Amino acid sequence: MRVGVLTGGGDCPGLNAVIRAVVRKGVKEYGDEFVGFRDGWKGPLEGLTMPLGIDQVRGILPRGGTILGSSRTNPFSIEGGVEQIKANLAAAGVDALIAIGGEDTLGVATKLHDLGVKVVGVPKTIDNDLSGTDFTFGFDTAVNIASEAIDRLHTTAESHHRVLVVEVMGRHAGWIALHAGIAGGANVVLIPERPFDIEEVCRYVETRFETKYAVIMVVSEGAVPIEAEDDSGMTLLTGEKDAFGHVRLGGIGERLANEIEARTGKEARAVVLGHIQRGGTPTAFDRWLATRFGLQAIGAVHDGDFGTMMALRGTSIVRVPLSEGTAELKLVSPEEYAEAEVFFG
Ligand code: F6P
Repeated sequence: MRVGVLTGGGDCPGLNAVIRAVVRKGVKEYGDEFVGFRDGWKGPLEGLTMPLGIDQVRGILPRGGTILGSSRTNPFSIEGGVEQIKANLAAAGVDALIAIGGEDTLGVATKLHDLGVKVVGVPKTIDNDLSGTDFTFGFDTAVNIASEAIDRLHTTAESHHRVLVVEVMGRHAGWIALHAGIAGGANVVLIPERPFDIEEVCRYVETRFETKYAVIMVVSEGAVPIEAEDDSGMTLLTGEKDAFGHVRLGGIGERLANEIEARTGKEARAVVLGHIQRGGTPTAFDRWLATRFGLQAIGAVHDGDFGTMMALRGTSIVRVPLSEGTAELKLVSPEEYAEAEVFFG
């Protein structure tokens, strides 16, 4: 078979491990040929391809990013986009497509499958907010990077008796903040799922200083204060939207630090981890998960299991309908958040 592969959306450690596993198993077990589509859905949309074979995947297992490039191109926001994709897939002689991406990329894959494109999906996102799978690869790496940063911040916060507010990624879901916050011993964790009360946050700060310790606060970029629930202005860095209608987030860490300093008189600084969380080599767990997703995805192509997404359930990799994986976001539950709350203040 001739199989196309693309990676879309924000990059994520482990993408290359998936590509490698797909190609290695495809060539060895099925005698497949591959076509790499460049830069997410832009590749099939504009006919941008690159060679993809054993030579291209050699040595990429530990490398972050994606050798195929990525973009947030949405073919459904472009007139005639779907027809263009179908025509370009046919021109490249592609029998099936493997799309590796998050809610947006796999949302496009779901719709294309409904329109007759033979596609299987592999879930990725450092945010870990895709339903249908217990974990997405990239998340473990992001959490490890964030918790290592928190460990480092503890000693400097203590030395200077400061509040350090660590802003981590997480647009709609607070998984990174929650896991890194618990792993790093944060004193407050603020997530998008639970609008925070700034007065309560300041009380935690005061209590913490009473015990002569400094404060490490972890906040998801998408967290909002209760009073600003209808005024997302507090979290927006710019009003700019991408092709999927998402605004660019950022700035909540700085806003919080300023507010805490003004209200409590304690010195507060913000640290924004940003894209550091997405770059560099994947953890062993993410390489393991990404590899197994890749092996299963090429298997699904050969079983004719189109319209499915690979998913981790317990320790097994299973195939679920793409629509199930992208139907709704997986969010932190109040019970899971309550576990972190035990350590607040
Ligand atoms: O979806 C993954 C993610 O890293 C989010 O956590 C974040 O809001 C977004 O991507 C940032 O995207 P970009 O790199 O395009 O600014």
